[in-house]
Amino acid sequence: MDVADEALMEMARRASESAYAPYSRFRVGAAVRTLAGGVYTGCNVENASYGLTCCAERSAVFAAVAAEGPGMRLVEVAVHAAAHSVPPCGACRQVIAEFGPQARVLFPSGGVVTVMRADELLPARFELDPPG
Ligand code: THU
Repeated sequence: MDVADEALMEMARRASESAYAPYSRFRVGAAVRTLAGGVYTGCNVENASYGLTCCAERSAVFAAVAAEGPGMRLVEVAVHAAAHSVPPCGACRQVIAEFGPQARVLFPSGGVVTVMRADELLPARFELDPPG
């Protein structure tokens, strides 16, 4: 892993310390780097109504949009959890691919950090042309 990747993974790890995960006790952190050069983090936020939970990856992407606006584009996403493998879930793959189909996604897999492109993780994402 190069220094920039390691730094982004470390930001994801630190973000995981903020997770609100009293139900699963599975704390996840994510850090995203944008085309504009910004870095934003997110953590999972659970709810007593379990289905309302938001994953760390989506929290980070939404923070990036809130900071940079609708033109925000992702170049890198790093995910951390204290587990051997934490590939992003399907819903998060769809959200990541919306903003960066070519983004590099770093996540622990079998105890080592794996890098895959967003469009490798989700080859046929749902797309909808915005009304013109
Ligand atoms: N979780 C994430 O934050 N990211 C993922 O990609 C998968 C799962 C969270 C959701 C929930 O709070 C906990 O992990 C257990 O599923």
